Order: sequence, then C-alpha cells, then structure tokens
Amino acid sequence: MTIFVTGGAGYIGTHVILELLEQGYAVVAADNFVNSKPSAVARIKQHSGIDFSFYEMDIRDSGRLNEIFTAHCIDCVVHLAGLKAVGESVEQPLGYYANNLDSTISLLSAMRAHEINKIVFSSSATVYSGNNEMPLTEESRIGDCINPYGWTKFMCEQILTDCARIGDGCAVALLRYFNPIGAHESGLFGEDPRDTPNNLMPFIAQTAMGKFSHLNIYGGDYETPDGTGIRDYIHVVDLALGHVAAIHYLCKHPGVSTFNLGTGRGVSVLELVTAFEQSTGISISKKIIARRPGDLAICVADVEKAKRELSWESKKSLHDACTDTWRWQSTNPNGYDS
Ligand code: NAD
Ligand code: UFG
Repeated sequence: MTIFVTGGAGYIGTHVILELLEQGYAVVAADNFVNSKPSAVARIKQHSGIDFSFYEMDIRDSGRLNEIFTAHCIDCVVHLAGLKAVGESVEQPLGYYANNLDSTISLLSAMRAHEINKIVFSSSATVYSGNNEMPLTEESRIGDCINPYGWTKFMCEQILTDCARIGDGCAVALLRYFNPIGAHESGLFGEDPRDTPNNLMPFIAQTAMGKFSHLNIYGGDYETPDGTGIRDYIHVVDLALGHVAAIHYLCKHPGVSTFNLGTGRGVSVLELVTAFEQSTGISISKKIIARRPGDLAICVADVEKAKRELSWESKKSLHDACTDTWRWQSTNPNGYDS
C-alpha cells in the first residue's frame, strides 16, 4: 500500500513516516516547511535506509497535488499538514482558516478526482466543548471552540464528514489527539519548535538545557489534587502507531470513524515535571503564576473505542516520554539544525 503523508516533515509526520516505512508501507510525502526543516526528511531516509518521494509544496496547490496523484498510485492519505499554534491563531485567524481549511479542501478535491477514498485526519481534543464530563468519549459534545485553531479542526471534521457522505466507499478516520509528547528512541527525531515553545514538554526540556531560567506553571489553584492542570500525555511513537492502526481499519470500514488517541491517564503539570526530573536527574526551577486564558483544568481521553475497534493502545510510559525527550533535546540542542 502507498500512503501519501501531508505535513510529513513535522513533529508527528516524521514519526508517522518512520512507523509506516518500518511496517513495509510505501510512502510519498509533502510539506512546505512552514514549521519544519528539510533536514528532518533527510534524517528519515538516512535512518530508515529507505528512499521515498518527497515534495516541497503547499498542500493548497491543487495543480501539484494532481501531478503527484497522477505520478503515484496512492491508496490512502494521512493529512497532518496544518498550522497549530493556538496563540498565533488568535492573532492571525484568517491565515489559520485559509491554511487549514483550504489545504483540506484542495486535498479532498484532488483525491476525488483521482478516486482516492481513504483519509486519516489529524484532529485534536480541542474540538470538544469545555463543559464536558471527564474522561471525554468520542460522543462527548464538540464545538464552542475557544480559538480559531480549534475551529479549523472542528470545521475540517465537518468538511470530511460531508464529503464522505457523497463519496462512494469513502473511508475517513478522524483522530483526536490528546497531548503528544516524547521523541523517537533513536534520539534523531523529535519536536523542534521554531520559537519559544508554547507547550509544556518542550518548555521543560529547554529549561533543562538552560535556555530558560525557570518554568512558569500556569495556575496552581485548579480543582485538581495538586492544583495544577491535568492532561493526557501520549508518546508520539504510540500516536504514530495509532495512524497505522487507523489505516488498517479504513480498509474494512467505509464511512466516518472518530477515535480519541490518548492514554486515558491524567497527569498534572507538577507530576510531569517530577517525572522529567526523576527520568533525567535534572531539577527544573518553577514558578506558579496566573492561569493561562482558555486553559481547562482537566482534559483526559476515554480510549476504550480505539482499544476495541483499532486494537490499538498506548504502550509507552511517562518515563519513556521523558527519557526520549531528553535524549533528543540534549543531543540536538538546535533541533534538526544540530
Ligand atoms: P508540525 O507543525 O510539527 O507539523 C505540521 C507540518 O505541516 C509542518 O511540517 C508544516 O511545515 C506543514 N504544513 C503546514 N501547512 C502546510 C501547507 N499548507 N502545505 C504543506 N505543509 C504544511 O505539527 P505537528 O505537531 O506535527 O502536528 C501535525 C498535525 O497534528 C497538525 O495538523 C496539528 O494541528 C495536529 N495536532 C497536533 C497536536 C500537537 O500537540 N502536536 C495536537 C492535536 C493535533
Ligand atoms: N503549561 C504550563 N506552563 C507552560 C506550558 C503549559 O503550566 O509553559 C500547562 C498548561 O497550562 C496546561 C498543560 O501545561 O495545563 C499543558 O499545556 P500545553 O500547552 O502543553 O497543551 P494544551 O493542553 O494546552 O494544548 C495541546 C495543544 C493543542 C491541542 C491540545 C489538545 O497545544 O493544540 O493539546 O490536543 F489542541
């Protein structure tokens, strides 16, 4: 089977391609490097010893997509390309809607023209409304997104669902990721944020490197056991394997299927910092400051549906995620430019 991976040079894309190659899939990938680097792709080829076609392009470019779909016989698409910085999406809503929606629409149009009818889409726990009971099941309420980024995921889910209704034999997997962390155990692949990281784990890792004096903890007065926010942190390699499971599933299940990809375990900010300190032996200075606007107290997945229907579950521990993050961060202080 040949899989077309959009956003293949990004944090999750690199790990998805590595797992696909490892399992014998043929890969064709594309990325415009708006948030990634060509060296990530070179590393995948070098590490796997497998060459694959890679296109530097914007997924909104339907002419290029048509050329690719003519040149390669694609069986399934994994659509990861997208802008993902929550704060930036508030400042540049049109840029986010234009990129994330138009790329999905161009892709679906080209797929339709070339009779490619299977797609795995990178969605997010951010599509769930803030007032649901925990843990979140796939049936929990969605909408009321609190930022344009979240709305782009919500709207792409709707576009994909509407297209699946009219496409004969179309199969769509909407994967709602919880909080991806960690890195490949080789130490060669990981998260390489462009600027100051917004997310917790890369900030902890860069603080451990001495890039920041301390970690700001956003809120110590939540209704959680230690007062800090609770999330469901999933190792990026487990997440990548979830995509492989979804591709298998799509081969037998037409229609739209939605899956939470998480661990089902809630971990607080302080617990993650402690796990990192214990795994690496490095102590992290921290200050509790005001809550970050828009943050929920708790966001945890119910993962029973993915276990049952995809025969997939996360295997790696928090310790694995901390150790792997540190191996990547410490041996690649400047990310893929190292
Ligand atoms: P990332 O930024 O590392 O990867 C996304 C890739 O898409 C980047 O390499 C970027 O250059 C590329 N890209 C963006 N717009 C493009 C376009 N128009 N044409 C071609 N390439 C384009 O992010 P990631 O963490 O790997 O996330 C992958 C997907 O998963 C994204 O859609 C993101 O919204 C989604 N997601 C991520 C998280 C997370 O916390 N990392 C959580 C939920 C969902
Ligand atoms: N946090 C801090 N200090 C920091 C960064 C984060 O205390 O410097 C806290 C946050 O307040 C939150 C937790 O750490 O309690 C996790 O925050 P992240 O920014 O790492 O992740 P979020 O849960 O806010 O959001 C992430 C992605 C979203 C995605 C969501 C669900 O950034 O794009 O997970 O998948 F939608």
